[in-house]
Order: sequence, then structure tokens, then C-alpha cells
Amino acid sequence: MAKTLIVGNWKQNKTIDEAYAWLSALSIQTSEEKEVILCPSFIHLFPLQERIRALGLKVVLGSQNFPSFPKGSYTGEEPVEALREVISYSIIGHSERRKYANETDNDVVKKVSLALQNDITPILCLSSIEQLNSYLSLERKIAESSEKIVFVYEPPGAISGGGEFRPENPEEVNRKALDILESIGKNVTILYGGSINPDNAKSFFSMPNISGGLVGQSSLDPISFSQICNTA
Ligand code: PGA
Repeated sequence: MAKTLIVGNWKQNKTIDEAYAWLSALSIQTSEEKEVILCPSFIHLFPLQERIRALGLKVVLGSQNFPSFPKGSYTGEEPVEALREVISYSIIGHSERRKYANETDNDVVKKVSLALQNDITPILCLSSIEQLNSYLSLERKIAESSEKIVFVYEPPGAISGGGEFRPENPEEVNRKALDILESIGKNVTILYGGSINPDNAKSFFSMPNISGGLVGQSSLDPISFSQICNTA
């Protein structure tokens, strides 16, 4: 059975004190079959790594974005060598980065490739099957290393954006996940993202082609996030 992955995407939220308080309030039941991944902003990664260790929590860290260059004179970019010390995963190609930071298909596949080279698992967001096909045509590593990538089907219209929940229908999500599996032609890990909350998490996690979720708004509250993790 594939591991269930629950990814918390805090987006551009939380002070460091709020982040510490969140960790203290987290109450998750962990198991070998489940991994809880927290993606705070870059500035929180190292202090949170220390706090997670001190509290003995079973939470691994991921970033919300990945650099395009390994190191060098690229002002404002994060050094991959330092990131490697703290993250195991990185969300790549989130639709909000495509919308607000003008990320292109080429940028996304470059980041996926660099993450793979550095043994960081890309959590590759897909708005549609057409987008996946574009990535597959641009970078052959995406197909070749697909077992080392976590794919997320996340239609932009289902993202709460911090407002009202507007999730996709779970059956439809399951069908889209099957399309992704067929395009890749291998048994890869697929998550769903978009308005997951404690009330609907089970309906997604029980779908046969879905191995967990990418959670935005509901990851900001430690109680809601714990409930979602404990549903999986
Ligand atoms: P949401 O966000 O859970 O608030 O819809 C998900 C995401 O954008 O990753």
C-alpha cells in the first residue's frame, strides 16, 4: 500500500511565535503508513526543524517553492545546499506561483529537475492533464523519475484562497487521478488539493487513486490540521 501523505501549505502566513504555538497544539496519531509534511515559509524552516526535534514530533519539512539555480550570484534565491539540510520535499509549480510570480512550464520543470538531483522529493502541482503533458514533453526526467515525484491534482478553481471552501467532487478527482496515472504509465503517488477540511477529508482520502492531500487554509489551524491528518 502506498504511504498516505498529508501536506500542510501555510502559504504566506504566520509569525515565528504563531508557528511555535501551532506545533505545540498539534495532536496527530502517526504510523508507518502515513507521513505528515509541513511547508512553512523559508524563514521558518530552520527554527521549526529545531522545535520539531525538541518536541519529538513526527513531522517532516518541505518548502513551498524551489530555487531555479543550485548556487551562485542569484540575488534573492535560496541556496540549495542549505535547503537540503532541512527539507525532504518541495512544493513545485503551485498555481499561485504561476499566477502571481509568473512561473512558466519551463521554470517548473527546471525546479523539478534540480530538486531530484538533490534528493528532494518534488510535490508537483497539476492544474490539468494538459499541464502534465506539457511537463512530460519538456523534461524527460519527469517520466523517468516519476516514482520519486509526488503529483498533486489541484484545480485552481477548487483552492479556497483563504475564503470559502469550494472543493471538487471526490469521484471527479479520482477520475482525474486515473488520467494522470494513464499519462505517466506507472503507479505513482497522487494527492488531491483544494479546500480540504475536516468535514470532507475522508471523502477524498478514501478514493482508490488518491494517496492524501495538499491542505492550505485548514492547515493554518492546528486542530483542523490534526483532524485531517488523523482521518487519513
Ligand atoms: P486550500 O489551498 O486548502 O486553502 O484550498 C490548497 C492549496 O492551495 O495548496
